Amino acid sequence: MQSPKTPIQEIKDPLFDEKGVRFLVKRDDLNHPVVSGNKFRKLKYNLEQAKLKGHDTLLTFGGAFSNHIYAVAGAGASFGFKTIGVIRGEAHETLNPTLAFAQSKGMHLHYMDRENYRRKGEPEVLKKLESQFGKCYVLPEGGTNALAIKGCVEIISEIDQDFDVITCPVGTGGTVSGLIAGLNGMKRIIGFSALKGDFLKDEVHTLLQGADVENFGNWSIQTDYHFGGYAKVKPALIDFIQKFERAYNIPLDPIYTGKMFYGLFDMIRNDFFEQGTVIMALHTGGLQGNAGFDFRT
Ligand SMILES: Cc1ncc(COP(=O)(O)O)c(C=O)c1O
Repeated sequence: MQSPKTPIQEIKDPLFDEKGVRFLVKRDDLNHPVVSGNKFRKLKYNLEQAKLKGHDTLLTFGGAFSNHIYAVAGAGASFGFKTIGVIRGEAHETLNPTLAFAQSKGMHLHYMDRENYRRKGEPEVLKKLESQFGKCYVLPEGGTNALAIKGCVEIISEIDQDFDVITCPVGTGGTVSGLIAGLNGMKRIIGFSALKGDFLKDEVHTLLQGADVENFGNWSIQTDYHFGGYAKVKPALIDFIQKFERAYNIPLDPIYTGKMFYGLFDMIRNDFFEQGTVIMALHTGGLQGNAGFDFRT
């Protein structure tokens, strides 16, 4: 599973000149037409491992609009695995665009009630799934595990331009953990939480446990730009996303990347970054979610 090195695009705005910063975007949204952005990074070593262990089926979990479900379905079809998606909640008569795509790629959709879904990590629930579907390579919800983090470390080694701060959106914490591990104490990393609450810092500590990087003080999780919580939006966010796309021809999604870019502009405006700072914002893809978002609203 190889991807081309993704481009870095500088964007210009009078605001950046006024504040003396440079703004670069690492366009990981362009790394694969289906398994795009951080999903590609997170799946790469997992699929290698699944092949190595002789698995022919991937099983994973997600909500009905999940980027991860979409990506696993696409990756399975492209790289020769059968796929099973365990979907939170009950089936609906009309499939939303994410699930319709997943099914069209051959993913078997298995709906699980919310009570059992909450317990999906427990051996008993996994055993039941295994008795139903046979031995599968199980990927966690959101795709974050040690191999996913290993894939995200490669983002850093691919960057050939100097920068001071790298940023990414945060859901489960896997991607930002990869950036922290890849930088090994150098530069700064800011993760923008797409969820309400400040539990993600602990989550990242847990994910990095055992690695020397755990105690580095060069990273933080920004919790001010969740817009009410996961998949919640406000008109100001939608307005920003539309203007951003018109200005730079870079599409964003309202669940992850839109919130990060909005936050970065706001922080620049409020002098968070010193003059001379070069910001590298990681575009993590997720654009499939836009169709689902339109379907929902
Ligand atoms: C587009 C996009 N960006 C960022 C994230 C957050 O990544 P992580 O779960 O590794 O924190 C996700 C979800 O996993 C995503 O779909």
